[in-house]
Amino acid sequence: MKKVSVSFTLNGDPVTAEVPAAWTLLRTLRENFEFTGAKEGCGVGECGACTVIVDGDAVNSCIFPIPEIEGKSVVTIEGIADKDGNLHPLQKAFLDNNGVQCGFCTSGMIMSAKALLDKNHNPTEDEIRTSIAGNLCRCTGYVQIVEAIGMAAKK
Ligand code: FES
Ligand code: FES
Repeated sequence: MKKVSVSFTLNGDPVTAEVPAAWTLLRTLRENFEFTGAKEGCGVGECGACTVIVDGDAVNSCIFPIPEIEGKSVVTIEGIADKDGNLHPLQKAFLDNNGVQCGFCTSGMIMSAKALLDKNHNPTEDEIRTSIAGNLCRCTGYVQIVEAIGMAAKK
């Protein structure tokens, strides 16, 4: 299988990966870097479980062709706690407000919310709901998630 070499920034560190050219960003993160926080739910861009941030925007990494990551900056759920291991305010708010049940959607939800809060520190509830419109959760009913994002914004 034809391989491609890509260099990009992953959670602040410069990295290079040599992987099959047909791989997605999600597969590269999980199988090459062993960053398994981003999940594969649908695999076709519908559920948001695979969401990571690329150059400031939330993207579905399951449909992001790996050759297109060259030179870009990727942030995953593994990269948002601080250097001492203290949880990001979004992670803490999800835990404190029962925004996590099975957890399968959680890293994607948090990355979509982080992409919003990085640009908009004081979002309305509608803006929060829009930011996670592409993230499906089978467990929580969304209320605690929306509240958790609002709590994190206040911090
Ligand atoms: S796994 Fe990527 S959107 Fe569902
Ligand atoms: S917590 Fe289970 S899918 Fe969201």
